[in-house]
Amino acid sequence: MTVEQIRVSTEWLDLREAADAAARAADLVGRLSRSGGHVIHDLACGTGAMGRWLAPRLAGTQRWVLHDRDPDLLKVAASDRPGPAADCASVTVETRLSDITRLAPADLAGATLITASALLDILTEDELAGLIGTCAGAGCPALLCLSVTGRVRLAPADPFDAYVGAAFDAHQRRLTWRGRLLGPGASDAAADRFGGLGAEVVVRPSPWRLGSDDAVLAAEWFAGWFGAACEQEPGLASEGGAYRRRRLAEARAGKLAVTVDHTDLLALPREAAS
Ligand SMILES: C[S@@+](CC[C@H](N)C(=O)[O-])C[C@H]1O[C@@H](n2cnc3c(N)ncnc32)[C@H](O)[C@@H]1O
Repeated sequence: MTVEQIRVSTEWLDLREAADAAARAADLVGRLSRSGGHVIHDLACGTGAMGRWLAPRLAGTQRWVLHDRDPDLLKVAASDRPGPAADCASVTVETRLSDITRLAPADLAGATLITASALLDILTEDELAGLIGTCAGAGCPALLCLSVTGRVRLAPADPFDAYVGAAFDAHQRRLTWRGRLLGPGASDAAADRFGGLGAEVVVRPSPWRLGSDDAVLAAEWFAGWFGAACEQEPGLASEGGAYRRRRLAEARAGKLAVTVDHTDLLALPREAAS
């Protein structure tokens, strides 16, 4: 495996699925083919949330090929299947244990659409370049959703938010044995690379907007955000102890509004662009 082995839990993916679904830029789906016979490869599918969101928005038969390196997540994805299609056409699913940074062109042969979600920011520049080259080689659209931009807003605001945000972004861009992670620069880097390969690139905002109904997710997200910031800047753990307790209490009480900006990117090969 070439990617740092940080495992993502089923519980976290379940918790964020509704917020992800609400955030996705649905208008991009209108640029996809309306005819049937879709063969859709979802790269780093996790529990398969992207398929559950997208399959009912597409008409015609769909064959989903779900790739992930985590066999436990693939098991969940295989049992919690996407569908039905918008016109009730059949939707089938196949799972593949894959390292998506090592896909060969043959792995995506016959694809009519490639998707990924919450993936690009955990790649290095080289991994992204390789992946985009392989996607472009498949000659079909690529819909790459929910890449973080680094912009986070909390309400009510607190002056300490900015310190935590800066440390979190630095953590996202940290140097690993694989190279430096792209973090919030991933979406722009992907747009540049697809553009350089002649694709039409459409980028839309896809922010999470968490309010009083999302208290559990907001609290989990905050704990992860602050924890990553402390890994990057260990001094924040003691300096920000009171801040952490106050923010967590606000989040759990549904009194912390959280906006986490993301972008969704659609790359259309020139012949598919309309
Ligand atoms: C944040 S989760 C997103 C999951 C899913 N796409 C979603 O939106 O719910 C990131 C996923 O990437 C997978 N992953 C990370 N690096 C990978 C790699 N090199 N090859 C395959 N899967 C990878 C993880 O196992 C995890 O399922």
